[in-house]
Amino acid sequence: MQQSPNQSPPVLELRHVTKSFGGAIALDDVDFALRPGTIHGLLGENGAGKSTLVKIISGVHTEYDGEMFLDGQPVRFRSPADAKAAGIGMVYQELSVFRSLTVAENIFSTNQPLNQLGMVNWRAMNRAAREHLDDLQLEVSEKAVVGLLSVGLQQMVEIARILFSGARIIILDEPTSALSPIEAERLFEFMKRLRGQGRTLVLITHFIEDALRVCDTITILKNSRNVITTESKSLTKQDVIHLMIGTDAKVLEESYLDMRTHRSKDARGAVVLEAQGITKRGVFESVSFQLHEGEILGLYGFMGAGTSELAQSLFGRQRLDSGLLLMDGRPVQIRTPEEAKKAGLAFVPENRRSSLHLGEPVYKNVSLAHLDRIVGWILHPALEVQMAKDQIRQLSIRPGNPFLPVGGLSGGNQQKVVLAKWLIHPPRVLVLVEPTRGMDVGAKAEVIQLMHRLSDEGVAILLVSAEPETILANSDRIMVFSRGRVTKQFADDEEVTKEALMRYAA
Ligand SMILES: Nc1ncnc2c1ncn2[C@@H]1O[C@H](COP(=O)(O)OP(=O)(O)OP(=O)(O)O)[C@@H](O)[C@H]1O
Ligand SMILES: [Mg+2]
Repeated sequence: MQQSPNQSPPVLELRHVTKSFGGAIALDDVDFALRPGTIHGLLGENGAGKSTLVKIISGVHTEYDGEMFLDGQPVRFRSPADAKAAGIGMVYQELSVFRSLTVAENIFSTNQPLNQLGMVNWRAMNRAAREHLDDLQLEVSEKAVVGLLSVGLQQMVEIARILFSGARIIILDEPTSALSPIEAERLFEFMKRLRGQGRTLVLITHFIEDALRVCDTITILKNSRNVITTESKSLTKQDVIHLMIGTDAKVLEESYLDMRTHRSKDARGAVVLEAQGITKRGVFESVSFQLHEGEILGLYGFMGAGTSELAQSLFGRQRLDSGLLLMDGRPVQIRTPEEAKKAGLAFVPENRRSSLHLGEPVYKNVSLAHLDRIVGWILHPALEVQMAKDQIRQLSIRPGNPFLPVGGLSGGNQQKVVLAKWLIHPPRVLVLVEPTRGMDVGAKAEVIQLMHRLSDEGVAILLVSAEPETILANSDRIMVFSRGRVTKQFADDEEVTKEALMRYAA
């Protein structure tokens, strides 16, 4: 008789694993057992230790206390290559595709098929890549240059590459945070198929409902410790939030689930930013909208719909082909980020790493956007640090030390630093793309409160997201984008549901 998966001996096991960085503890006496043929969810607040745990499994961190067993045998990986050779594949939170290579070259990055002359056999490689992509139902050309694909597709290519290298344990660190709902579903279906073939998967995610739906087993880390490992069947979303966050869970959850009390038309301030038929050929067409003082305008669209390019254009990172932008009723030229800043705009992009200096301390990253001002009339490093400390407190950035390099913070905390940069001097218009991506429920609530506070102070906010919940919970007004066009602007008294958003976005 076949054993139920949860009773089989673990394929991989950690016992009493402790890991610290300098003096700070990231994992504290953690036990972790992976059963073969299961999907194992790893949940926890930002900074709880999830990425650290899987980086030990994948050979990135080689210095730690405790033991690791693979198929019951003690192992000690000396490098990521070691772990890979043992069949452990890892998809990192940050993309590591080769941007200048094609999809096929990425998939074959380590073992390109050679012909008799010892040269790469392109035809064989492209053909094999095509078959592999078809198995994954990935609609992307094997010949496409990866750097030109959307973030979501790049991520799918990375996953395809790791699967292709024959991994039997596949670790996915927040794989869906950059994916549209449809792509995420496709990935989950694929993960289940792999499970059916006896492979073992670890899924790190902040989407609790997804974890409960997709995973067989759930482990929750809190303050560097494993607080529970159990079958996901036995947990509710409330249980998970409670175990992750502790006593404040109920308040936090309510604040997030609470829909924003929408501002009525009369309470709205004057129009600050207006777009009249702005167009970037092949990306978005004839986009018109008005953004009012103190208003949060939600822009919903699937990944690849052109929303993120629209945001980039508003901030002068991409040129418009035609159309008109007006600030306070007067036409403005925004051709560079500098011109955008002068006009009173601020921008938080979706790719946080592109706007951080990872080797620099937190306080420098917070003040960089305003360096010109600081140099101009403050001229005092102590003040720079003090400003950073205020932001660290307001945003609960952890650890709360302004002198740590930003690259050592957990993913969610890096995102808060990006926000902090812009909050020192509130702009007139704030364009936010996926501001809560990668954040735990508690951090999400904090950022959302902050956004609401800014809008109460009169800042006009354009909130761009592919997460229906984020848009629904925060917007005064909602606009939907599909394939580069506005397909819907919901009226004030019109009911908006998740289904309606998805329908207009399709
Ligand atoms: N390379 C590093 N250097 C110094 N400290 C680190 C490093 N990597 C992680 N840490 C610290 O270890 C702790 C755990 O971080 P980790 O990245 O594992 O969190 P996480 O659970 O993955 O969080 P998130 O959900 O935000 O990604 C954090 O306090 C973090 O600042
Ligand atoms: Mg992480």
